[in-house]
Amino acid sequence: MNELLTQAATRLLSGGLVSFPTETVYGLGANARDGKAVAAIYALKGRPQFNPLIVHFAQAADAQKETEWNARAEKLAPLFWPGPLTLVLPRKRDSSLSLLVSAGLDTLAVRVPAHPLAQSLLEKAGIPVAAPSANRSGRVSPTRASHVRAEFGDDVLVLDGGDCAVGLESTVLDLTGSPRILRPGSVTREMLEESLDESVAVAEPGAAIAAPGMLKSHYAPSLPVRLNAREARSGEALLAFGPHAGTLNLSESGDLAEAASRLFACLRELDKPEFSGIAVMEIPSGGLGEAINDRLKRAAARDK
Ligand code: TXA
Ligand code: MG
Repeated sequence: MNELLTQAATRLLSGGLVSFPTETVYGLGANARDGKAVAAIYALKGRPQFNPLIVHFAQAADAQKETEWNARAEKLAPLFWPGPLTLVLPRKRDSSLSLLVSAGLDTLAVRVPAHPLAQSLLEKAGIPVAAPSANRSGRVSPTRASHVRAEFGDDVLVLDGGDCAVGLESTVLDLTGSPRILRPGSVTREMLEESLDESVAVAEPGAAIAAPGMLKSHYAPSLPVRLNAREARSGEALLAFGPHAGTLNLSESGDLAEAASRLFACLRELDKPEFSGIAVMEIPSGGLGEAINDRLKRAAARDK
C-alpha cells in the first residue's frame, strides 16, 4: 500500500485524479490548486454544471490558511475533525486554491477526513485535495473501491480502503452567517446545536446547492455579458477561445479543460469599469463545454 500511496500522491501532484476512501464515501480527488486538474473532475463526472467541491485537508490548521476562520469554526473543528463534517466559510482573498473549486463562489467548503488512507494521502501529497464523491453525475455515491472501478474503470487510480464506515456524505454546515445545514449527514443538527450552544437552521433540501449560480453570494460580473461574440464591440472586453486575439483568452489551443480552469478568473479580471461589457466567444458545447456554457448563460442572464 505504501508504494501505491506514493504513486497516488505523485499522480495528484502532477495534475492527475485519484480516488480515495474517506469515512463517508469514496472521493474523486485532484490538486485543489490546479485548475486544470479540478476541471478534469467535472469532465470525468460528466457534471452539466460546476457545483462547488469540498476541499480536503490533512489538518484544521491547513484549512484555516485558505478560509476566514471564525469563532464557530474554532469551536467545531476540534470536536468533529477529523470526521464527517464540512464547513462552508468565506474564502480568503489570497487563497491559493483554484476558483473553479468553489465554482466562482466567495466561499469554500472544507473538511478534514478521518479515514487513515485519506489522511496518509493528504499528508504525503502535502496539498489540499478537492474531491466530490467518486460517481458519475446522477449516480449514487460509492462506498467501496469496486463501486468506483465500476464507474470509472482504468481512468482513475483507486486506493482501496474497504467499505466506508459512514456510507453517507458529510454534513455540510454553512458558517458564513448564522449556522445552517446545507446537507444533513451523520453529524446531526442536535450535535451541532449542543456544541455551538445556539440553534442551527436546516436549508430546504437542495435549495442552496441545486443552483449555485443563483446563490446571492455567487460571483457574477457586474458588467453585461454577451455570448457567442465574434469580436468586441466598442468599449467591450473580448474573452476569446481558440486561436483568436482577445483581451484575454480562455484557451488558445481550444482546450475545454484549460478554459474551465480559467473561466472564473478571466471573468473577474475583465469585470472592470474601463470596459462597457464582456463579449465572450462561442464555446463548443460537448463535454466540459456544457458546464462552461451553463455558467456563462447564468452570467449573461443576470439582471443588472
Ligand atoms: O462526504 C463527503 O463530503 C464526500 C467525501 C468524498 O468527502 N464528498 C462529497 O462531495 O460528497 P460532493 O461534491 O459530492 O458534495 C459536495 C457538497 C455539495 O452539496 C455542494 O453543493 C456543497 O458540498 N458545497 C461545496 N462547496 C460549497 C460552497 N462553497 N457553498 C455551499 N455548498 C458547497
Ligand atoms: Mg456527490
